[in-house]
Amino acid sequence: MDKYVIKGGNPLVGEVEIGGAKNAALAILTAAIMTDETVLVENIPDVSDINVMLEAISVIGATVERVDRHSVRINGSTIGSVSVDYEFIKKIRASYYLLGALLGKYKRAEVPLPGGCNIGSRPIDQHLKGFRALGANVTIRHGVIYASAEDLHGAHIFLDMVSVGATINIMMAAAMARGNTIIENAAREPHVVDAANFLNSMGANIKGAGTDVIRIRGVERLHKTSYTIVPDMIEAGTYMFAAAATRGDVLIKNVIPKHLDSMTAKLEEIGCEVEEFDDAVRICAKKRLGKTHVKTLPYPGFPTDMQPQISVALCLANGTSIVTESIFENRFKYADELTRMGANIKVEGNTAIIDGCELLTGARVSAPDLRAGAALVIAGLAAEGVTVVDDIIYILRGYEDFDLKLRGLGAEMERVSDEREIQKFRLRVG
Ligand code: EPZ
Repeated sequence: MDKYVIKGGNPLVGEVEIGGAKNAALAILTAAIMTDETVLVENIPDVSDINVMLEAISVIGATVERVDRHSVRINGSTIGSVSVDYEFIKKIRASYYLLGALLGKYKRAEVPLPGGCNIGSRPIDQHLKGFRALGANVTIRHGVIYASAEDLHGAHIFLDMVSVGATINIMMAAAMARGNTIIENAAREPHVVDAANFLNSMGANIKGAGTDVIRIRGVERLHKTSYTIVPDMIEAGTYMFAAAATRGDVLIKNVIPKHLDSMTAKLEEIGCEVEEFDDAVRICAKKRLGKTHVKTLPYPGFPTDMQPQISVALCLANGTSIVTESIFENRFKYADELTRMGANIKVEGNTAIIDGCELLTGARVSAPDLRAGAALVIAGLAAEGVTVVDDIIYILRGYEDFDLKLRGLGAEMERVSDEREIQKFRLRVG
């Protein structure tokens, strides 16, 4: 399995371009099959989760034509089956969006219970509650969710907790249900807004996305569109904290600065300079970082998908920081790996107590999931000596050209596939 090998210690300096949001694209590519006309989606990131999703929709019969690395044309008129194969589902969690899309369009869907990153128990009861409220009969048999509705109709749905997936999934099904739906306690993430904008561009009638009440008036059919995915706030945030942890100076281009507010605020709190432009942010860390406390929350709070990355920066800060994870219970699996690099990080329940140290030292570590993997790369970039990050298959799920972009900022790192290449790298960097 491929690994990243990193010689740390260089501040990251330069410019980096951010791609389209993976989590918006996963929803939008699925929603694209809800019309029988051809849809063009641009600015999709070339990452493995997206490629698996495209494969899954082509396996059920949709026509998927890759226009270039970041654009795809999808036509859902050729779909021959509402039953999705387990092979695809087990790889990505967002395959649950096929339930909402197929149920909305065909009033019937058969989708195995999803897999995905192992960051804690990830129930989908709120998705199913929403579909049932819309009139669907939903059962789970032998690991497969069967949903069907004779009359898919509008409903008033109050989500028990703020869920990105449930909000988008219910929104998709309700877009083609009869009558009006109201989703209360809806998620407000930029990818929810992007999915709603996309559906509206296909003729749906969705209002209020970005607030906690979303109103949907169902329509009978959706039509063709061309759509560009929003920039990825988590990819951007990852480079922001990489700049901070390495005491670098990085201009992060093609972002929506408003989406980054919670991260910008924390970076300023720990002593970084953050300059905002129309579609870029510059992070400059001139001195040792300071401590802070942070708790992950639904948007516009600090994202759970940035928790490992900020924790790495805090491992190098002056003082003791407390990081509380309130969304997923199993998202500190990287802490033991950081300890091997000299970090003082103690996890108790959903809290990590981090005593900042002056220096991390390179070690062999293993990526436990996507964002934790990215965080270990940041640790390697900041550490003295050589770090090897194993299991980068997780990182490739969500970061396009991670090593290439980091090398563009002066990082000494390579993607390698065996021990011989690691040795060669060690000899070369000295
Ligand atoms: C999305 O997952 C993202 N995935 C995750 O990104 C992200 O961490 C998460 O939202 C939170 O922002 C995709 O968009 C594909 P949730 P999702 O439903 O939708 C509980 C990454 O690194 N819950 O918002 O699955 C749940 O257990 C990934 O890119 C229920 O109890 O997350 C969690 O505690 C990882 N029942 C909380 O709600 C439900 O039916 C929020 O989960 C649904 C959720």
